[in-house]
Amino acid sequence: MAAITKRVMAGVAAKVMVFCLALVPLALLISDILTGSVGPDPGQAITERLGLTAFQILLLTLLITPLKKLTGWSGWLRYRRMLGLFVFFYASLHILAFLQLLLGWGDLWATFTKRPYLVMGAAAFVLMLPLALTSTKGMMRRLGRGWKPLHRLIYPAAGLVWVHFLWQARSDITEMVVYGVVLFVLLGLRVYWSGLSSLIPLRRG
Ligand code: HEM
Repeated sequence: MAAITKRVMAGVAAKVMVFCLALVPLALLISDILTGSVGPDPGQAITERLGLTAFQILLLTLLITPLKKLTGWSGWLRYRRMLGLFVFFYASLHILAFLQLLLGWGDLWATFTKRPYLVMGAAAFVLMLPLALTSTKGMMRRLGRGWKPLHRLIYPAAGLVWVHFLWQARSDITEMVVYGVVLFVLLGLRVYWSGLSSLIPLRRG
């Protein structure tokens, strides 16, 4: 009994730690804003930092299955849902920062039609919406076997985010290429272990 309680407590503590770690980029950003150290163009820097954090956590989420396979420890899966919700959280803040600090909520249609990379970002966000809405235990139960195929939408969403990231680059694309290689390896491992069909969303099996 004592051993079980200890294990449950350790599990809760680990989740709280992951939760706090995921908030570190936001805390650092707020601290930089308060101390005036976000750079000469705060709106741009805030938008970029939030977008990059969303993408980095998205890659971490995709790392969970390879970690499970490579270490043989299925405990990694406990953190996937929380990380997925943090992707949505940071992506929402990123879009809000863009609308509020860069665009001022004006000329939405013209802005999006003139800058196709924004359409890529918006499409990725639209794909993430049903994932965030169905991430509760109740929705998992209700969707049953349909939950997994729906949540494979994260793969095209990740691809779209990467295109969005690459397309907005002004000159040096080294960083985008590195992130692209990481994404390619993570998706490639999945194909290697479970076949190409494991990446296709909304398809049962
Ligand atoms: C309606 C949806 C979105 C809009 C309007 C939007 C807008 C923007 C803007 C304005 C930039 C800065 C581009 C520049 O420097 O000129 C940017 C960069 C970026 N966005 Fe988005 N975005 C959207 C969705 C997303 C999503 C869903 C993600 C990730 C989950 C994301 C990740 C990124 C990344 C990684 C960057 C590059 C940051 C850097 O340069 O370090 N965006 N986005």
